[in-house]
Order: sequence, then structure tokens, then C-alpha cells
Amino acid sequence: MNILSPSILAADFNKLGQQIADVQKAGAPYLHVDVMDGMFVPSISFGMPVIKSIRKNTDMIFDVHLMIVDPIRYIGEFAEAGADIITFHLEAAPDCLAVIDRIRSFGKKVGITIKPATKVEELIPYLDKVDMILIMTVEPGFGGQPFIEESYDKIRALRKLLDERGLDTDIEVDGGITFDNVRKVMDAGANVIVTGSTIFRGDAGENAGKMLGIMGVIGDGSV
Ligand code: DX5
Ligand code: ZN
Repeated sequence: MNILSPSILAADFNKLGQQIADVQKAGAPYLHVDVMDGMFVPSISFGMPVIKSIRKNTDMIFDVHLMIVDPIRYIGEFAEAGADIITFHLEAAPDCLAVIDRIRSFGKKVGITIKPATKVEELIPYLDKVDMILIMTVEPGFGGQPFIEESYDKIRALRKLLDERGLDTDIEVDGGITFDNVRKVMDAGANVIVTGSTIFRGDAGENAGKMLGIMGVIGDGSV
């Protein structure tokens, strides 16, 4: 299933609730929530209180992307705050299997992610243990960066590894996705699409509708 996951990192926080309602109304099922700790990535974004607050006003699926060192420390808190899918960085976790178990212990879906420099082969031990694999298509830390072209090969390679194992695990992509390249990343094998600036720069509802159209989720894909 093809899914749009707008990233609120690019939202106008002065009207966050309204913007979330707009993308939900347009048909986006997931909301991508970028948590940054100033250690794993240079930026600091937001954490549990923001998630708790927006949780009260929407039933969207919260797709929480943890860009934090040693993520196992905070899994319980993010689960309680209202995360539905918790994605952690392979590079940030000394024991990925322990993090996966911890996320499962709260009944949440598990995502694992790799930075652009990390090879897809490093994911092999976890392929059958997670619900979603996120291929970062920019260096994590900031919105609005250009898509890294080498990512297409990584997405294709990952889809092949999954196919060989008979797995139809979701492949998410995050960073630099635009109206112009979204079809190409989907053709490479990605099916969960994160977009920040493309959605929230301008009218979020309109942009989400246009993106869903191009993705073929609504309309006839001929936007
Ligand atoms: C970057 C974040 C992304 C970011 C994407 O570290 O993980 O989710 O919000 O933003 P765009 O779509 O603007 O590249
Ligand atoms: Zn993200």
C-alpha cells in the first residue's frame, strides 16, 4: 500500500493543529514526527510534550522517527506519548534487537532506518523483525535538503533483499522528496513517502492532495 507521511518538521508551529487537520483531510494516513537530540544529529527539534499535545486532536498514525543516541532509553516515553510506529537509527543503537523487542513490548510497530552512508546489507539481520525500513534519502538533521541520487540504488537493493526472503515489508523514504521525484522512488520500490517542505511550504492541504494524486492514492495519478 502506498502511504503519504507528511513531516511536521516543516510545518508552521504557530498553526500546527490546523495544518495537521489539513493534511489528514487531504487523505494522508500517517504523520511523520522527527525527533532530534542535538547529538545523533546537530539539530534539536521536539519531543514527547509536542507528540502528547497533537495526539489529542487527531487519530492519524504517528510515524515517529527517532534521531537520538541510544534510543532504547526513551522508547517507553514515546510509546506513552502516542507514537504508533517507532523508527530508530541502526547507527545509534548498540543493540538493535533489544530496541526492536522494547518497541514491540509496548505493542507498537517497529521501524529501523539507515543514514545515506550506511549499506543496506547492514539491515539483513533485522529484515524479518521489523514492520518498516526507512532509507534516509538525505543526511538526517534538516528539512529542505536535495535528494541524494544514489538512494535509488539503495531502495532497489533493499526491495530485492526483501523479495528474496518473501517479505513485503514497507520501505519508507525520507528527505528531498518532491512532486517530481516521488514516482521514481516508488518505482524503485519505496511505498511510504515522507515529505516535509514539499507539503508544508504553501497550502499543506492542497500540496498533500497533489502528492497523493501523483502517488496514485487518490484520483487517477494524472495530476
Ligand atoms: C530530516 C528529517 C525529514 C525531514 C524531511 O532529518 O528526517 O523527515 O523533515 O524534510 P524534506 O521533505 O523537506 O526533505
Ligand atoms: Zn524523518
